[in-house]
Amino acid sequence: MFSYRHAFHAGNHADVLKHMVLLHICQYMTQKDKPITYIDTHAGVGMYHLSNPMAQKSGEAETGINKLWPLWTNKGSRDALPPLLHSYLKHISELNKGGKLKLYPGSPYVASQSLREIDRLKVFELHPTDMRLLDDNLPHINLSGTADNKRILFKTVDGFVGLKANVPPASRRGLTLIDPSFEMKDDYNKVAKAVKDALTRFPSGTYAIWYPVLARPESRNLPTQLERIANEFNVNWLHTTLAIDEVAPTHLQLGLKSSAMFVFNPPYTLAAALNESLPVVAKRLADSEHAGFTIAQSS
Ligand SMILES: C[S@@+](CC[C@H](N)C(=O)[O-])C[C@H]1O[C@@H](n2cnc3c(N)ncnc32)[C@H](O)[C@@H]1O
Repeated sequence: MFSYRHAFHAGNHADVLKHMVLLHICQYMTQKDKPITYIDTHAGVGMYHLSNPMAQKSGEAETGINKLWPLWTNKGSRDALPPLLHSYLKHISELNKGGKLKLYPGSPYVASQSLREIDRLKVFELHPTDMRLLDDNLPHINLSGTADNKRILFKTVDGFVGLKANVPPASRRGLTLIDPSFEMKDDYNKVAKAVKDALTRFPSGTYAIWYPVLARPESRNLPTQLERIANEFNVNWLHTTLAIDEVAPTHLQLGLKSSAMFVFNPPYTLAAALNESLPVVAKRLADSEHAGFTIAQSS
């Protein structure tokens, strides 16, 4: 159950898509002068050292951030970047002062950079070692002004259980990232069940779900299932995919080639932001003519 370690995958193309979407939603939701609650059901360790043996062994950053990074370090291309890609790379550059790419942020870090003193952060991670590493990484995670226990919760608990216990949030404005490892087939059904339950309790919440796009029925069926749930609750949705090559049958050994984010109640600005940035990202990360991106949303 605990074989998955995100350190092998940090900064890959799937992280790029997920963290760009997450960053945009956080920046959008924190524009309004009202508190939000950010819930991270499957947090990982919060910060990744790209020189770590696990990252070095897999070399997965090479499929994502390593290919985008020169767009930032070259001043000419940096100034021409579309806004969301610019914000994302700027965010990473703040961790890598001096221009050498050493650290890659995890989702709790990406979100925490937008959160304000009025916001709350609830973070769940089941792997005891990763939870310990997340704890160690807390000083790197700039939770400016949020270091008051009522506003922050870090717990070694099943994220699906943590989500259930925390919706609706007191703030009545909330963003949840659901990012399981999908090591178990069961995770697909658990995601659909968890989001349905969360929408029942808190229909106006924003829920962002990451999943691997694989040539397997459970992966193919998930977006249809999620769209059905969105229609049942009459909420808007957005579904975006990013592929660097032909879709693979599994993601663990051979390497994932495509992934997706399905967002319930997305900001109305998300589709346009992705439409501007994903062409640049997809072109840069492409490994073959099968690479590309899609963006679909409710009408
Ligand atoms: C894909 S990684 C998370 C990456 C992280 N969200 C990010 O973007 O930086 C999935 C994480 O979920 C953890 N995990 C697996 N099952 C879990 C569960 N039921 N509840 C909470 N965490 C779980 C794994 O240990 C792993 O660290």
